[in-house]
Amino acid sequence: MTFDLTVHLTPDDIVRGLRSDVRTGLTGAPKTLPPKWFYDARGSELFERITRLPEYYPTRAEREILAERAEEIAALTGARTVVELGSGSSEKTRLLLDAVRPTLREIVTLDVSETALADAAATLAAAYDPVVVHGVVGDFTQHLALLPGSAPRLVAFLGGTLGNLVPDERAKFLASIRDTLDDGEWLLLGTDLVKDPHVLVRAYDDAAGVTAEFNRNVLHVLNRELAANFDPTAFEHVALWDYEQEWVEMRLRATRAMEVRVPVVGLTVSFAEGEELRTEVSAKFRRDRVAAELADAGFALREWWTDAESRFGVTLAQATG
Ligand code: SAH
Ligand code: TRP
Repeated sequence: MTFDLTVHLTPDDIVRGLRSDVRTGLTGAPKTLPPKWFYDARGSELFERITRLPEYYPTRAEREILAERAEEIAALTGARTVVELGSGSSEKTRLLLDAVRPTLREIVTLDVSETALADAAATLAAAYDPVVVHGVVGDFTQHLALLPGSAPRLVAFLGGTLGNLVPDERAKFLASIRDTLDDGEWLLLGTDLVKDPHVLVRAYDDAAGVTAEFNRNVLHVLNRELAANFDPTAFEHVALWDYEQEWVEMRLRATRAMEVRVPVVGLTVSFAEGEELRTEVSAKFRRDRVAAELADAGFALREWWTDAESRFGVTLAQATG
């Protein structure tokens, strides 16, 4: 089996990035943190548990679409390389890889979470031998220019992760994917769709409390990496639907007033009782918005599919000249 791992984010880079994000995010008003810091080894495991929760429908809905459409995607794209960004466990992706197998020569998986990536890349290398698997530890907002792989490439960005970027970041990110592709190459994009707010909020606030634990995990990461002294039990998980932005917003609410020290960045951060720290947005889409954002970035929408209940959308788009 052929498998290599390239690290664009060393532990040093990670701590440097975390320091700078924490300095900006915890001194701003309101306080915010970027979502990529959820995903250390424990965060990636908690996310895998989220994907199996009864309330968290997006994974199952997207899997349903991929199962139904994988052969069509393979026939349309004839992909030699599948590049997956924010790949996590790459579990659903195997439906796609199985279908494109006759033309498939290389698989590239990129994720910030080195543990999730190393496991997934080794599993894929064993399952798809002699296809070459390149695991890349990197940030999909920074390291796209460096991706290996022979044409035609199909970039898969699944799980609704696009929604974790705010509109400005999305525009930049989609444009950077377009820049790395040649005319005619492909993007497969999974987006969660606008629906009943109760269903949406429950998907991010499950009865078993797994999402709450996942949300608080970012505080454990800050404690470990930056020697901070957050008391994660003093923060409660909040998920709410923002009607205007059409996104679910995740926050951590301080249940008492407190001062938190973050020695590695020389900060002492005060929280008022009830003060909220925004940890993530998860934007929900409509077909028109997906098509418009793709068009702005230089992609033409070729196919749009949803699951039987229209909960989730998968788009096949092509880089245009
Ligand atoms: N694609 C998988 C996982 C989605 S969860 C699925 O559909 O189930 C989001 C994934 O993106 C996690 O594995 C996380 O580690 C990764 N991720 C988040 N921000 C990232 C970034 N900026 N660069 C690279 N990977 C990122
Ligand atoms: N990409 C996933 C989503 O937006 C990430 C996610 C799922 C998430 N549940 C979460 C992020 C809870 C933060 C908190 O659906």
